[in-house]
Formats: sequence, structure tokens, C-alpha cells
Amino acid sequence: MGKQRFFAVAVVGVALSAFGLVLTRTTGLAQSGSDDKPSARASSKENGDGKSNEQLSQPKLIEHSYPLAGDQERGKSLRLLQQLTVDLLAIDNIYKEAHWNLSGPLYLQLHEYYDQQATFYHKQADDFAERVLHLGYSVDGRYATIARTTTIPEFPAGYLTDNVSLRLLVDRVTVLQKEIYKGIRETEQSDPPTSNRLQDLAFGVDKNLWQLRIHLQEPGGLGANLPWSSQQGHARVKK
Ligand SMILES: [Fe+2]
Repeated sequence: MGKQRFFAVAVVGVALSAFGLVLTRTTGLAQSGSDDKPSARASSKENGDGKSNEQLSQPKLIEHSYPLAGDQERGKSLRLLQQLTVDLLAIDNIYKEAHWNLSGPLYLQLHEYYDQQATFYHKQADDFAERVLHLGYSVDGRYATIARTTTIPEFPAGYLTDNVSLRLLVDRVTVLQKEIYKGIRETEQSDPPTSNRLQDLAFGVDKNLWQLRIHLQEPGGLGANLPWSSQQGHARVKK
């Protein structure tokens, strides 16, 4: 076989192979295309067991993964968080009252400080209210609910001098402080995230109470009966 003849045969062979490949692909596509719709319909209707979705039993309610062990633990946290929410909102309101109706020599400094504290307690109320939602329940922070259920005593109406407002606030924030420490103990096993968050709140409330008390420290005056009144200047002497 001459070189030219061999070359011609090879070219024809390659061309036929290519044609065959194209033909096979075209036929295959046509066949698979004709099967595509029925098979797609079958896969949308059937699961691995050969049952259609309509034949499967569907859950009536999606089961959420609540973080606590059981309903008893969850109920304890929910009651505590609901009460804390309304009490924090009450303290927020009381601080605003004290901020507005303040009078006396400490007006400027306490006016600002009371406003900062109102903002702090408002933010805390938001965080603890939303924790109720984390646990799968709705929270009730309506003003009627606050008035009906809060454990924080009402604030007197009208002008309040700086010293009087400080003492009224110390009393009321102390009620909240006790509630928080009780909550820390009650939830430390059953709901550690809530307990830890209450510890953070306790840190802020303890600081708030210290800052209120320190304004009342007047040797020979209103603060004379406070625990540290007899220790004036001792820290400096010891150094
Ligand atoms: Fe203001």
C-alpha cells in the first residue's frame, strides 16, 4: 500500500469514527431526553422506599431543639425570665422618673447618671426578654403586665431631692439584686447560659448599687451609719 493510499484510508476511517460518535451521542441524548421527563417526575414523587411523598406520614409540628433537658427545667427558666423582664422594665421606668423629677445640688451629675442607668436596664430587659424566645415561648412586657406583676415598689410622684431619690433607688435596685442572685442559684444546673448571663447582670447591678451608695457617704450626715463610715482615711494611714 502506497503512502498516499494509506493516508486516504486513515482519513476516511477517522471521519467515519467521528460520525459514529456524533450519531451515538445524538441518539443517546434523544433517548435520554425522551426518558428525562418521566424519570424526573418519578424522582419527585418517590423516595428511597418507592413511596410517594403523599403516602409518607408528615409531622404535624416541627420539633424544635430546645436547649434545656425538659419542660420542667424550661418552665423554671421561663417564669424567672418573665419576672425579671418586667422588673427590669420597672427599674428602667423608675430611673427615668428619677432623671426627670430630680432637684437639689447634685442635679446635673445625677440627671446624667440616672439616664445612663435607665439605658442600661432597658438593654438588659431586652436581652432577658429575648432569652424567653430562645427557649421557645413568647414574653409579656406590656405596660399593664409590668404594673400588675412587678415586685419593684412604685416610685413616688412629684419632685424628688437628690438624697431622697438616691435612697429610694438603693431600696428598689436591692430588691432586683436579690432576685438576680436567687435566679443565678436556681438556674446554674438546669440552664447554665441563663445563669451565666444573670451573673453578668449581677456585676452591673452591684456596681450600680455601689455608685448609688457612695453618693450617700456624708460623715456625720446621711451616710454616717453606712458600714465604711468609721473607716474614713484608714486606707491612707495603712500605706
Ligand atoms: Fe432626658
